[in-house]
Amino acid sequence: MLDLTSFRREAHALVDWMADYLETVDSYPVKARTAPYEIFNKLPDTPPENSEPFKKIMNDFVAHILPGMTHWQHPRFFAYFPANSSYASVLGEMLTATLGAQCMIWETSPAAAELEEKMMNWLKEMLDLPREWDGVMQDTASAATLCAILSAREKKSGFTSNQQGLNGTRYRVYCSTQTHSSIDKAVRIAGLGTDHLVKVAVDDKLAMQPETLRQAIEQDRRKGYTPLCVIATFGTTGTTAIDPLAPIAPICREQDVWLHVDAAYAGTALILPEYRSLASGLEHADSFVFNPHKWMFTNFDCSAYFVRDKATLIRTFEILPEYLKTGQRGQVNDYRDWGIALGRRFRALKLWFVIRDFGVAGIRKRLREHIALARQVEQWMREEAACECMAPAPFNALFFRWHPKKLTATDELNRFNARLLQTLNDSGRLYLTHTRINDTFIIRMVIGQTYVREEHVRKAWRHIKETAQKLSAEL
Ligand SMILES: Cc1ncc(COP(=O)(O)O)c(C=O)c1O
Repeated sequence: MLDLTSFRREAHALVDWMADYLETVDSYPVKARTAPYEIFNKLPDTPPENSEPFKKIMNDFVAHILPGMTHWQHPRFFAYFPANSSYASVLGEMLTATLGAQCMIWETSPAAAELEEKMMNWLKEMLDLPREWDGVMQDTASAATLCAILSAREKKSGFTSNQQGLNGTRYRVYCSTQTHSSIDKAVRIAGLGTDHLVKVAVDDKLAMQPETLRQAIEQDRRKGYTPLCVIATFGTTGTTAIDPLAPIAPICREQDVWLHVDAAYAGTALILPEYRSLASGLEHADSFVFNPHKWMFTNFDCSAYFVRDKATLIRTFEILPEYLKTGQRGQVNDYRDWGIALGRRFRALKLWFVIRDFGVAGIRKRLREHIALARQVEQWMREEAACECMAPAPFNALFFRWHPKKLTATDELNRFNARLLQTLNDSGRLYLTHTRINDTFIIRMVIGQTYVREEHVRKAWRHIKETAQKLSAEL
């Protein structure tokens, strides 16, 4: 079993392994190529009775686990949204693991609580969010959105729903047809029922139509429902569309409805002053979430949740058993009262490391590089007659399909593009994912990986083009 001496020795070797991995990650197939249960079946069915040498554990990691990994830090990872990381963030995570602190209340780790408060203030400054807002780190945007809906429900019920349940009130939540599935899930968990999640139609840019929203709320009120909350998205998952907050916010105010803004991915762009006008109206939101763990170089998990009224948040989640009472209540932030879980990781440390290592200017520079690379690829796409750009691309994500001359019907094109995607991903040379808009299959390419440079997008585009041309020739 490891002791302090062997821990020190193995940890040094492990850091070398980590640096070698990041240096050569480019040489791995981006997407894991293993079959279902291939890894599982290689592992023993029972745990070892006796200690095994660390070297053997590490060798098994390399032999059995690594081949089954999809490499999210690969510079040709263009799938989903990135969960990007960075050297400083990894070092911060190592320290978090070493300290092993459970940061549920101020007293269990005062520095963790105070660093978290400071980091949330830094993020407000960086994104130019209203300074009177308060922030807390959540594990995911899904949890933050659930917090928003639960807080809205509790407030709207006059702070009785936690105690009495819904009492027959039929609350309604509004979002666009393009909203992330975490909203459906939050509505389920909050006990409102997905029948009461109203999906508002979008315009040709796939953004929520404010007038349709207003009509839906007014109509619901006439039918005896209680409009509760609007979830607007800044950067939808499918196509990074932006719901127009400037007209949506006053509707929410007039109608006395909570406004939550889900900016899980694209919120990071607000660090760039040139992007802030796209979020005009955000200052009127009741709550806002974005994930530094997606595009801000900070290891998963790190989701930043901000609220206008922290008293409502705390009143919704506070629960005070005798064993958690401390002498500092009221003077400090006990973050267990600001969300769902009691136990909390020391998430602020890695964020502190990242912001200090990059500097805000360094983060802005990297984001602008990603956006410039996306513009470059978009230009290549537009120059290629068979490639169609399928949705506006305001950030660093592109949406396209290949259109061979021989094909015209939507389902034929869908099948062709699904095959193209599969062939590209099977090649191991890049990883892309897809979405569907109005039954049309669209390939997404998100250029936000920490280590991506021009050579990677150039190679990726060449590969996409050659593969698409080869498949077209086979038609
Ligand atoms: C717009 C949007 N909201 C919410 C989520 C969920 O994020 P998380 O995994 O942090 O819950 C995503 C994930 O991609 C997203 O794109």
